[in-house]
Amino acid sequence: MKNVVVLISGRGTNLGALLSAARTAHWETALGVRVAAVISNRFGVAGLEIARTSGVPTQVVPHLDFASRDAFDSALAEAIDAHQADLVVLAGFMRVLTRNFVAHFAGRLLNVHPSLLPAFPGLATHRRVLAAGVRVHGATVHFVSSDVDAGPIVAQGVVSVRPDDDEASLAQRVLEVEHQLLPRCVALIASGQIWLDGDTVRMPPGVAAELALDAA
Ligand code: GAR
Repeated sequence: MKNVVVLISGRGTNLGALLSAARTAHWETALGVRVAAVISNRFGVAGLEIARTSGVPTQVVPHLDFASRDAFDSALAEAIDAHQADLVVLAGFMRVLTRNFVAHFAGRLLNVHPSLLPAFPGLATHRRVLAAGVRVHGATVHFVSSDVDAGPIVAQGVVSVRPDDDEASLAQRVLEVEHQLLPRCVALIASGQIWLDGDTVRMPPGVAAELALDAA
């Protein structure tokens, strides 16, 4: 069985999409993949409740309890390692990670980000997209390198920016793409159908076709 550990900081809609896909597509029996645990850096966030409702073990490693980034990341790595994680998914985990942490999980750390990277890393992506006047936007799932919102790209989903879009409408359409993209990527990576070869993401053509999302 391959163990996926999901890290969250907030509302957890991507986690919800992941758990729902795992349930609907019977990941445990069909793929030998299970969500082994959900870890949050904040108490009381909605994502923890989503995990509990699905019967997934949860844990909070509160970053405010630690004097340094290194100390927090060491405790977080220890909590993840306790679940023998084959894949660690950052699903709205809003902490910058140290080089040591990223190196420890090299090749098994995945992030979803609400932009077409390498454009618009960081926060407030939808607002910045509107301000820049770009016509296409979207979401990216990528393996994590030690720079913020960077690393080998697994898949992207494209959203057209409409003339009447505001931050909320754009965010909503991008989120819907994230909810489709992330579970597919997690299933394909955890089951060995997508893999990292150095810094290059490899997948058979059939899998690439399966990941292609039409512009929303
Ligand atoms: C998602 O839009 C995710 O892409 C973003 O946080 C949101 C979390 O939503 N992550 C980042 O910006 C990482 N740089 P959720 O908690 O409802 O899944």
